[in-house]
Amino acid sequence: MIKLGIPPGSTLDLDDLAPDQFEEHVTRRLSEIVSHFRDQEAADLVLKQEDPVLYDVYASERPALDGELLYGVTYLYPGKIGSEYFMTKGHFHAILETAEVYYCLQGEGFMVLDTPEGDSSVESFSRGKILYVPPRWAHRVVNTSNDQTLVFFFVYPANAGHDYELIAARGFRKLIVEEDGHPAIIDNPHWLCE
Ligand code: 6PG
Ligand code: NI
Repeated sequence: MIKLGIPPGSTLDLDDLAPDQFEEHVTRRLSEIVSHFRDQEAADLVLKQEDPVLYDVYASERPALDGELLYGVTYLYPGKIGSEYFMTKGHFHAILETAEVYYCLQGEGFMVLDTPEGDSSVESFSRGKILYVPPRWAHRVVNTSNDQTLVFFFVYPANAGHDYELIAARGFRKLIVEEDGHPAIIDNPHWLCE
């Protein structure tokens, strides 16, 4: 029997539950995605002290076959590098024509989306909200809470794969930063520059 990995009961204490229902676990630290942040001086200062964990991804292990689905839960912790909130690395799917569904279990933030052609979209993402990521759209999640972990469930075709290179090279068109104590969506000054 395939068991969905959502722990039973309240979604409010998910941070405290070991998601041992999942076979895969990836931890992403600042050093792995440091080049994605706008303020490199602020990032360097943080890295001199520590290499914080930005998020943990727990996922099912399914064969990369047509018709199979991968699903799991991401825990994106609160924090900022300079004025830019903690975020996921962000990716296109290697098979570009594959979609994904995200369901927010806890917290608040945004999903940032781009196409290879340079179209851009930003969607608010908070507890109870479901986002459909259409085929062709790269996706990144940003946690804008000062103190709460953003927790979301995701499901996508098991053979989709990940393409991180284009985003690593040009970034997303929009950044989510704190301005006057609130989240603001701004143009990425470095988009396409590298
Ligand atoms: C996927 C999902 C999701 C995502 C994580 C971490 O396609 O695998 O979008 O599981 O991978 O939330 O985001 P990054 O893969 O961009 O680091
Ligand atoms: Ni994805």
